[in-house]
Order: sequence, then C-alpha cells, then structure tokens
Amino acid sequence: MIQTRVVTDQPWEVPADVLAVPIVGAPSFTGPLDELDRRTDGELRALAAFGELGSKRYEATLAAAGDLPVSRILVVAAGPAESLDRETVVRLGATIERRLGGRSVRRLAIWLGDLPAHLEASGSNGAGSVGAALVAELLARGVVEGSYEPQAIYRDSVDDAPPAIDELTIVAPGADKAALNRAMERGRIFAEGANVARTLSNRASNDLDPIGLADEARAIAERNDLWIDVIEPDRARELGMGMFLAVGRGSDNPPRMIVMRSGGEGEKDARGRHLAIIGKGVCFDSGGISLKNPDRMEEMKMDKTGAATVIAAIETVARLAPGTPLLAVAPAVENMPGPHSTRPGDVVRALNGKVVEVNNTDAEGRLILGDAMTYAERLGATHLVDVATLTGAVARALGELVTGMFGTPQDWVGEVDSAAARAGERLWQIPLVEEYMNEMDSWYADFLNSSPVGEGSLVKSGLFLRQFAAVPWVHLDIGGTGYFRKSKPYAPRGSNGVTHATLVELALAGARPS
Ligand code: BES
Ligand code: MN
Ligand code: ZN
Repeated sequence: MIQTRVVTDQPWEVPADVLAVPIVGAPSFTGPLDELDRRTDGELRALAAFGELGSKRYEATLAAAGDLPVSRILVVAAGPAESLDRETVVRLGATIERRLGGRSVRRLAIWLGDLPAHLEASGSNGAGSVGAALVAELLARGVVEGSYEPQAIYRDSVDDAPPAIDELTIVAPGADKAALNRAMERGRIFAEGANVARTLSNRASNDLDPIGLADEARAIAERNDLWIDVIEPDRARELGMGMFLAVGRGSDNPPRMIVMRSGGEGEKDARGRHLAIIGKGVCFDSGGISLKNPDRMEEMKMDKTGAATVIAAIETVARLAPGTPLLAVAPAVENMPGPHSTRPGDVVRALNGKVVEVNNTDAEGRLILGDAMTYAERLGATHLVDVATLTGAVARALGELVTGMFGTPQDWVGEVDSAAARAGERLWQIPLVEEYMNEMDSWYADFLNSSPVGEGSLVKSGLFLRQFAAVPWVHLDIGGTGYFRKSKPYAPRGSNGVTHATLVELALAGARPS
C-alpha cells in the first residue's frame, strides 16, 4: 500500500531512494536546480553538457546523487511550457514511476519545481493558491496510474515491473501541507479507480464474460454500499429490450444489463441532475454474423472498456463523496456468430418502441447502448453520458490521444467538456449532422443500425444513439483512446482508464459539500 506524504523542506533535504526532479523546457541551472547540481558535484550540469539530459517531454534520466540524502536523482523532462497542461502533469507522474521499472525503489520523492507556476501560466488552472495542491494531486494520480502493470494479471512475475512504492513524498517548499495531503489522497483515489477500470477492461474474454462482469459489479456495489440490479434475459424480454437481446443471443454466455446506483431512486444531486453514466460492455466483439477481419481481433476483448469505466467511476465517486446521486448502467454481452445469432436483415424493437433493422451485426454497441439509455431514462435519469469503444472511425479521425464527443444540447456538452478539462483529459466534439440520418433509412423499419454509405460513419454512429436520447446526452467514443497498442513512457500497452476521471469530475460537481 502506497503511503502519501508532503514535506515543505527543500528538495536537497528529503531522504528517499529516488528524488524526481521535473524540468520545464530546457534546464536552467539557477535557484534550487543550481543548488541540486552543486550537491551532486556538478552531475546535472555535466549530464546536460554531454547531451544526456533530453528535454523532450517524458524523457527521464537517472543521475548520481552526490551528497544528497537519496540514492539517485531522476530528471524528467516536462517539455515546452506553452503546452504544459493537467494531462502532462499526470503523465509526468506516471513516467517517473514507469522509468523506475525493475529498480528497487520503496521511497520516492518528487519535487514540484516549477510545475505549479507553469500550470497556472498555461491557463489550465485559475486560482493561484491551489496550484501546488493541484500539481500534487495530478502527480500522485500519475504515480499510482504508472504503477499499473497489466502483465501481472495473468503472470506470476513480470520483468521490469514498476516498483511497489511504500512512501510517495511530494516536496513542496512553503506549501500548505494539509491541503496538499488532501489533494494527494484525491489523486490516489482517482488513479485507483482508473486502474480498476483497466483491469476489468484488460481481462481476457475467457476470464470475464457478461456474468463475470456482473459479479465484479456486485462485489464493487457491496464494498461501497451501492444499490445494484442485474437484469437477466427473461426480464429484459419482459421489459422489451429488443436491441440488447439481439446482440446477446449469439453467445452461449448470456447477456446481463448491470444497473448500479448511489443515492436514492431518481434523487437529484446538488446541480438538480440525476446523472446516468452508461458504458458499452461487449465482452468480446467478433462482429457476429458480420464477422470481423481476423487482424487484431484479439483487441475486441477490450470492447467492454466503457462498461469497465462506468463501473469503476461509480465506485470512485462513492469513495470520494458517498451518497452522491449517480446511476451507472452497463449492458454486457458477447457479440458472437452462431445458430442463434441475429442475422443481417433482422428487425428488432427497441425498449423505447423504435423499430430497427440490423443490417450489420458488427454495429452492435449502438444497439445495446440505445436500450441502456432508455432504461436509464425510465429510472429517472435527467442527464446521460455514455462511454463506448464504438467505432474504428473515431481512431482514424482523432487518433489515440483524443476522445470523440457528441451530444445535445450544447450546454450539456459544455459541462462534460469542462469536467474533462478539470480531469486533464482531451475531448473533441464531432457534429451531429442530422441530414446524414437519411442514409440510415430502412424499408421495413424506422431505421438501419448502420449506413450502407461509408462516408460520415462516425457522425452516423452518434446520430443512431441520438434516437434514444430523450434527455440531455453526451456520447464519448473511446474507440481510438481506450487502450494503447504500444507502451508509452507513461503507460503500458493495453487499457488506460480514459474518461474515468472525466466521469468522476462530472458526478462530483453534483456532490453536496461535506
Ligand atoms: N467495437 C467496434 C469498434 C472498434 C473497432 C473499436 C476497433 C476499437 C477498435 C464496433 O463494434 C464496430 O465494430 N464498429 C464498426 C461499425 C461499423 C460496422 C458501422 C466499425 O467501426 O467498423
Ligand atoms: Mn462491432
Ligand atoms: Zn464493438
């Protein structure tokens, strides 16, 4: 278990195994950095002169510690000041932790250095006095996220695993200790939630099917005193969840609609909302009868990332502000071909009464989400946010670093956007061009689940979901951002927890002051 603490001493006074020193821009050896260099017998200046102190963001160099009360110094490049934002600070924390992979480090100290000043200057944060606390929170979150090792899920031992830190110390000369301690605790809890989401997402489909995911949700509900209801196929049929059942029927592993809540039924939060977060839980997406190409099909075990994210997020909210009204709905299915599968051309009735022709069984996420949205509205939700690995198209449009956002009305989109800014996550809005809906016209039904015209398929995925939004709604497509295909300095390959922090910030905006 990681203990977090704050010291207000100078960085050269703090005993630890490793002292991490973030440098914004190119190093300038003045002030405290000059003093650190002096106490390392000029090691830092010498490394810089030799060209060893890279200043590319997330480059990290281990240096000898001279007379300092630590074994090593880790100089980590924060990159250009202009683009330093909250996400960068989280990733710096994670980079520090991951750069120490395979090393024996129990006590890690991180000096804040110039980070608070630059984060404020970059406009990422308004109030000057909270700068150090904010950086402490983001760094703690980063270190704990950085300690996540997906290879440990199934392996007994992992080479170069990030070290198990017993004590993480933030070195913040002159700061308000109590405020920074609270901030670090908040950062740790955010990160632990993201890591819960990552494990649920990374787990293999033979290890985590819809029933298994519902069991995990139940365990989380029990340990956080949350209400939970798991809807099985018989009840889903009585309710009329035709789209949800159409996807689930192809697999021997039956579907589950997972519904969790903190606070009372329909209870409004401090912002007058009953917020529902809804996550796509496709425990494996083979495409169904519209079978996918085998290339990288193994990634489709992570098609449950949205569900993993909302299940983890409601736990994080419960830990930080118990009783805050919040609903989480996670439709969990396996999309498989088989004798019972939905076929292209099948016509199903959604929970909201709309009739849909399933012309492509690989456009399954929108089917299960549509019924989950309607169900959330039935339970009194006044505002919806869904998270889904919905399309490959969003990855082509925005890549692996920016999540696609859709929604209506615009002020609700704005609120989600602000929550993402607070959380240090990047979103970009995609327009819902209503005219494109014509291309999903169906001869037999109200509309198709997928357009035969490929152009604009990203917009159309949002337009489809919009048919099930009777209240303010935002859709976050993490098809590009949900998991990394290659390791980064700040994250291993696999699921990365994206949008967890945004959902938590959004829900906490409705928490009552404690
Ligand atoms: N889960 C996939 C989307 C996906 C693919 C996410 C690759 C991440 C990586 C989704 O169910 C899907 O198959 N979408 C189709 C939609 C199409 C059939 C309209 C797609 O993106 O090709
Ligand atoms: Mn699919
Ligand atoms: Zn899918």
